[in-house]
Amino acid sequence: MMNDIKSVLYSEEMLRQTVAELGAKISADYRGRNLLLVSVLKGSVVFMSDLMRSITVPCEIDFMAVSSYGSGVKSSGTVRILKDLDRDIRGYDVLVVEDILDSGKTLNYLMDVLYARNPNSIRICTLFDKPERREVDIYADYKGLTVPDEFIVGYGLDYAEHYRNLPFIGVLKESVYQK
Ligand code: IMP
Ligand code: MG
Repeated sequence: MMNDIKSVLYSEEMLRQTVAELGAKISADYRGRNLLLVSVLKGSVVFMSDLMRSITVPCEIDFMAVSSYGSGVKSSGTVRILKDLDRDIRGYDVLVVEDILDSGKTLNYLMDVLYARNPNSIRICTLFDKPERREVDIYADYKGLTVPDEFIVGYGLDYAEHYRNLPFIGVLKESVYQK
């Protein structure tokens, strides 16, 4: 697995620090609110599990699964809901937790769907942002790190469902996805 990694972009320590800062900001902003963290599977599970433990105000969690990529490296533009939320989100202050905001198509679609369900409020928290690749007008209310236009893996992020278990963020060798 390590042979496929060109370089380490963010170490475990760097990720820990970034997530702690996000958790502190969210905790301050959501004091006295009705916070529901919505994790977008599967990429955001590692981030979600660290983020929720760095949030010090009461919150609930839920999960959604959408597919946009298949197993490639580029967004197809078609988004499908594979697993929906378990609950009605009216009355909740929803915070959508994403791994990475790339073209923005996935989140743009998801935000429309969730907004139409009339939550109290809805915001986005993304660990990584790749602004150079944005194709739709969407921004994150909370973002961890801005990344260059390279395909990254680890800490939940995959290429063809692999590498999610790497504890750091690595840049994948081009030779891996040009095969
Ligand atoms: P978007 O619709 O183009 O914004 O795609 C968002 C989704 O694409 C993310 O939730 C990831 O699952 C995936 N993605 C985008 N860029 C990367 C990357 O560099 N590595 C791994 N997955 C990525
Ligand atoms: Mg993915």
